[in-house]
Amino acid sequence: MRSIAIDGPSGAGKSTISRRLARDLGFLYVDTGAIYRVVGLFALENPEVPLPEGLDKINVGLTYSDGVQHMSLNGRDVTSEIRAHKVSKAASDASAIPEVRRYLLDRQRGLARDHDVIMDGRDIGTVVLPDADVKIFLTAKPEDRARRRYEELRSRGQDVEYETVLADIRQRDFNDSNREAAPLIPAHDAITVDTTGNTWEKSVGVLRKIIVGRLGLE
Ligand code: DC
Repeated sequence: MRSIAIDGPSGAGKSTISRRLARDLGFLYVDTGAIYRVVGLFALENPEVPLPEGLDKINVGLTYSDGVQHMSLNGRDVTSEIRAHKVSKAASDASAIPEVRRYLLDRQRGLARDHDVIMDGRDIGTVVLPDADVKIFLTAKPEDRARRRYEELRSRGQDVEYETVLADIRQRDFNDSNREAAPLIPAHDAITVDTTGNTWEKSVGVLRKIIVGRLGLE
């Protein structure tokens, strides 16, 4: 099986670009942030069951239909719910707990064992799939990432301010980069791509070229 790891901070375009590339290449797109979000949602809804002890009360369901990843929490479909703004912070907090990361590791590796995958996250190239065939570290300036995230949230009908989204992005960058467990850093053999100011088409084109070259698909 072949695997492509796409890591980077929130809002760099990982999911939009990875989804498009996965469709074009016939790979499975795995959004690992969604798995952390399910755990974050559980923590929000169950403050009386603290993590990591609460992990054995969480059943994270992950299924695909037409290449779209659906998430469930203890049997309830939470695919849309986990995108809420407040879940982002809860997911970031949950993801800093080493036992949570360890708990989710096999799950992520299992998907890559069974399928050709494009997997996006924060530690895919460094921890989850250190032997990935291609590793890309996707980044962009915080203002650019905040603007994209703001537009995405607005288009989902969420009432947020740009300044709030920017402040959250900075805070999450700090949390994700400074935690002890699997901090957000590029793998030593990752190719860094900065998408600041790019259209989606341009970024997809840049990554496609790298991937096709590395996998020898041309
Ligand atoms: O990509 P996202 O915004 O949906 O991720 C939600 C949170 O989960 C983010 O704050 C960082 C964390 N995360 C992680 O620590 N490791 C991953 N592989 C994916 C996400």
